[in-house]
Amino acid sequence: MNIAVIGTGYVGLVSGVCYAELGNHVICVDNDPRKIDMLNDGEIPIYEPGLKELAATNREEGRLAFTADLSSAVIHSDIIILAVGTPPLPNGEANLDYINQAAIEVAEAMNSYKIITVKSTVPVGTNERLAQLIRLHTNKPFDSISLPEFLREGSAIQDTLKPDRIIIGAECQRAAAIMVELHKPLTENIVVTDIRSAEMIKYASNAFLATKISFINEIANICEKVGADVTQVADGMGYDKRIGPSFLKAGIGYGGSCFPKDTSALIQIAGNVDYEFKLLRSVVEVNQDQRFNVIRKLKTVFDGELQGKVVAIWGLAFKPNTDDVRDSPALEIIQYLVDHGVIVKAYDPVALHSFQSLFGIGDVIWCNEALETAQDADALCLLTEWEEFASVDLLELQKVLKQPILIDGRNVFKEEDLIDTDFIYYSVGRPNLN
Ligand code: UGA
Repeated sequence: MNIAVIGTGYVGLVSGVCYAELGNHVICVDNDPRKIDMLNDGEIPIYEPGLKELAATNREEGRLAFTADLSSAVIHSDIIILAVGTPPLPNGEANLDYINQAAIEVAEAMNSYKIITVKSTVPVGTNERLAQLIRLHTNKPFDSISLPEFLREGSAIQDTLKPDRIIIGAECQRAAAIMVELHKPLTENIVVTDIRSAEMIKYASNAFLATKISFINEIANICEKVGADVTQVADGMGYDKRIGPSFLKAGIGYGGSCFPKDTSALIQIAGNVDYEFKLLRSVVEVNQDQRFNVIRKLKTVFDGELQGKVVAIWGLAFKPNTDDVRDSPALEIIQYLVDHGVIVKAYDPVALHSFQSLFGIGDVIWCNEALETAQDADALCLLTEWEEFASVDLLELQKVLKQPILIDGRNVFKEEDLIDTDFIYYSVGRPNLN
């Protein structure tokens, strides 16, 4: 099939490359010519394991192209996939300006029947509104499809090529059948539903996963007080098929460009129809507070006095295997420490530059290596569970730190890892070692 993907952010780029990998002809479009030049030079603007190689193969084999010329991409395609950003507005609602604009440009370029598919996460009812908008700008026929995206950063290719399910929201059976055909090689679990339900499935799924995380974080907080171990508790819960083992890792709370944005948006969507989503409000509140657990633990070890302490931070990305720092808990934690007179040294194997561009470069000592970051620090806080940190030599680490204080915000280390060390060790929802 001939496909145009509008928007080369995470979702657009990964989807475009993966549709090409399935044997389709894909043109990825972006209105940022610098991004297109970069992609045409074989560079990938995001860090995603395996994406660069897969893009290169598909370009070489003539199935994948990048352009800033939206009109010609639309003309040469049967399926148009809108994958532009819907970032949050200050009130939590999704900003639909980019997708509205993209829809108008697609409509104005249309030369024949197209299937217009929305992969961007949009509030319930948006697909129908976009269809009306498109109809105002073209008299060519088209069908709308809602095709929500469930890929995770860091494992985006695997998630796209081997998804748990594909959701197709459609009004027209013929268009739905074409979309089923396109996705058949990926999974047997293809759910065809109405457009509004498809839009809601996306928000409900992310909100549910966020709920699992906040739930286990609260269980962890209670475990700390009653002397239980949250990793054991999660393990024991996870064997129940109705609960499942995933998304039960306690830590410093969820971040990233999706859960914070989508939970706020769903609270707004509910609010717009006079429904207060109380449970989800609490999930967001718990998540916000969870990041401060690291700070509370630092205060405990320093008897409440943070001023003048040197604190090393390992991990800035909102999770490993990505350079994405949007809504990363590290942003707020570091800001708090800096504001309270702490000298912060920070390191991340991949996300240092993206963090600096959001945070600014003053106020923090940026380091290029894990042990160098820990050198002469009064304490070390681990905020992202990169593999590199798990395999560090703890005796070596203890030697370089001024005080052997380790606050493990992601439960990376086990008790036996610390057996021959003198670390004062705090983790999340597990007994402290000191
Ligand atoms: C999330 C969803 O998992 C995807 O299905 C969805 O497509 C995507 O949002 C989106 O809407 O675009 P992503 O944000 O890339 O994907 O990352 P996740 O792996 O879901 O992690 C999100 C956050 O939750 C991270 O900060 C991670 O550290 C945290 N997390 C995750 C936990 O604290 N505990 C867990 O057990 C799992």
